[in-house]
Amino acid sequence: MRDVGAFDALPEDLTDAGGGTDSLVRATADEPERAAEAALRPRRLDEFVGQRVVRDQLSLVLEAALGRGRAPDHVLLSGPPGLGKTTLAMIIAAELGTSLRVTSGPAIQHAGDLAAVLSSLEEGEVLFIDEIHRLARPAEELLYVAMEDFRVDVVVGKGAGASAIPLSLPPFTVVGATTRAGLLPAPLRDRFGFTGHLDFYADDELERVLVRSAGLLDVPLDADAAAEIASRSRGTPRIANRLLRRVRDWAQVRGDGHLHLPAARAALEVYEVDQRGLDRLDRAVLDALCRRFGGGPVGLTTLAVAVGEEPETVETVAEPFLVREGLVGRTPRGRVALAPAWEHLGLEVPLPGGTLFD
Ligand SMILES: Nc1ncnc2c1ncn2[C@@H]1O[C@H](COP(=O)(O)OP(=O)(O)OP(=O)(O)O)[C@@H](O)[C@H]1O
Ligand SMILES: [Mg+2]
Repeated sequence: MRDVGAFDALPEDLTDAGGGTDSLVRATADEPERAAEAALRPRRLDEFVGQRVVRDQLSLVLEAALGRGRAPDHVLLSGPPGLGKTTLAMIIAAELGTSLRVTSGPAIQHAGDLAAVLSSLEEGEVLFIDEIHRLARPAEELLYVAMEDFRVDVVVGKGAGASAIPLSLPPFTVVGATTRAGLLPAPLRDRFGFTGHLDFYADDELERVLVRSAGLLDVPLDADAAAEIASRSRGTPRIANRLLRRVRDWAQVRGDGHLHLPAARAALEVYEVDQRGLDRLDRAVLDALCRRFGGGPVGLTTLAVAVGEEPETVETVAEPFLVREGLVGRTPRGRVALAPAWEHLGLEVPLPGGTLFD
């Protein structure tokens, strides 16, 4: 089973990597959802919406390699969940007209597993290593050599009699994906000739993602409904596509099948996703911070007790987006509500130096 990495998120990591709830606005996805996503994945670079810089750079790398008839440099894709790393890896293979071999850091338990994968690669193939920051150290070391010298040392025998037989590999391209580029050891990072960092999408880009997806799902989506869904999608195509599917359900069951603005609003109200893309837990955290603790500072544990959740859930699931949005701040003395949090709850922003609740 795949682990989507919810619980190795550190407090300073703002990748919204939570997976602990079944909320509609978490950026991570489970297996059934990943299957639903497959149908919506862009297949070619020119279908890939947004990320103009990465797209331009990557298209140069790929075109140049195609022109030379050689495998391109290894590519590292980093960025928060749901922004298109896996999609880009598939596109890279498609653009090169080659096949994609898929594995992941956690799937490789021993260096030998990686050696087996590497030695079965064919010339020009793309090897996609998802969650590459989670590779075990011995596998990582084997990978350095393979990436740099296209060689893998196969160990035969055991103990003192063991010897390493170098096996040369045909040229291939590693595409690594990580939500935590900072955790990648420098020697591994240095083996990538190109690093693309994916950032959150602007609302108009998400609208284009939605229009494209609605076309593929064959559902009529109005422009203002697309804008409404986009603005609640936290800059993340995965969330946009997920909300689209839920709005489609609503339109089919309670509406007339048409995805217009009232349908989008009604559906998102049912699913408790508000105008800023906050869900119930997010709002509960804001509410506790502002109403119960006068805006803070309040410690994480106290805050978690107030909303009836584990501290870890509050910290890794709710907080990253609240911090990213400038609703909540972290201080050495605890969490504080920032002015937009009060405004979002329809409360008066307290004057600096005191609180309304003194
Ligand atoms: N630029 C884009 N244009 C259109 N659709 C996109 C784009 N980026 C992502 N998507 C859609 O969003 C969904 C999630 O993308 P993807 O699986 O590539 O994310 P990821 O970065 O690999 O996430 P994770 O870190 O969880 O593995 C896919 O269904 C894909 O179709
Ligand atoms: Mg992925």
